[in-house]
Amino acid sequence: MNERISELRAAGEAAIAEAPDTVELEDVRVRFLGRKAELPNLLRGVAQLPPEERGTVGRAANEARKALEAAIEARAHELEAAELDARLASDVIDVTLPGSPVIQPGRVHLLTATRREIEDIFLGLGFRVMEGPETELVYYNFDALNFDETHPSRQATDTFYISDDVLLRVHTSPMQTRAMEMHPPPLYVVIPGRTYRRDNDATHTPQFNQVEGLAVDEDVTLGDLQGTLLAFAQAIFGEERRVRLRPHFFPFTEPSVECDVSCFNCTDGYLRDGSRCPLCKGEGWIEILGAGEVDPNVFEYVRDHGYDPDRHQGFAFGMGIERIAMLKHGVSDLRLFYDNDLRFLEQFG
Ligand code: PHE
Repeated sequence: MNERISELRAAGEAAIAEAPDTVELEDVRVRFLGRKAELPNLLRGVAQLPPEERGTVGRAANEARKALEAAIEARAHELEAAELDARLASDVIDVTLPGSPVIQPGRVHLLTATRREIEDIFLGLGFRVMEGPETELVYYNFDALNFDETHPSRQATDTFYISDDVLLRVHTSPMQTRAMEMHPPPLYVVIPGRTYRRDNDATHTPQFNQVEGLAVDEDVTLGDLQGTLLAFAQAIFGEERRVRLRPHFFPFTEPSVECDVSCFNCTDGYLRDGSRCPLCKGEGWIEILGAGEVDPNVFEYVRDHGYDPDRHQGFAFGMGIERIAMLKHGVSDLRLFYDNDLRFLEQFG
């Protein structure tokens, strides 16, 4: 009997060692240790043996069973690891490959690209970039900018009010006072940001974007303003550009000007074929922004922050980012910037 047990154990161990995969290993298990297999049957029959044989046969059979179980477990680990390796080697998915079809990554919106371009130009001229709140106090939006109590843009028909003294800023100019409160002179700063007015047509949307500029130092003249705007116009619209200043009025600058840039679509208002230029309407000049020398009354509001109207001068300017982008890229309707139509957006960037 013990001999038969040794034979079964040896045969089982050999079969386990030879099993080429986990499926066949399972067959081997059933063959040697399954319900109908010989070794378990032997074990079950131990009780029927003469008492003097029960001990040795029982022990030998039990050991054989345990040895085979352990061998199967060890072989199963081996085979599973090898099968996993094989699967990993054959199922390679390169997650770094582009999808199919290749999906265009997003692009920067034309208004964002234009804002960054403007910021870059002024950074190059020694200005720093600041931002400020879109929900603004009436104080910064109007009062501290020397707006008369009766100025028409204070009316609720022009401006979005949140309460009597809080509104959505109508321009980035309130940041002039805020910037001066935060930094003593000399100050060279540009402030891009969203602005709001109760307007809606092809050239006005209720929300739009401006970039404010403010330079305060000693001896800052209108000539410095003109030179700065010329450098800006040439950087953004081309080396050949010239600028001209026309008298204008803003409550917070004195004198105030509007700045025109020479048209980059024509010569003196007319195209090569003699027809009137549609961009500048035959003028040869295009208005790009409002500006002026900081009104001394504005400095009075920040006197405590180191600004002395008798000692300091400055210039300020404000431009619409949409307007700059429309002129530069020939965009005919302001609302295209906000429609999110990919046929429009994909033409840029
Ligand atoms: N804030 C003015 C506007 O929105 C522009 C401006 C800025 C004019 C700074 C002069 C100086 O029209």
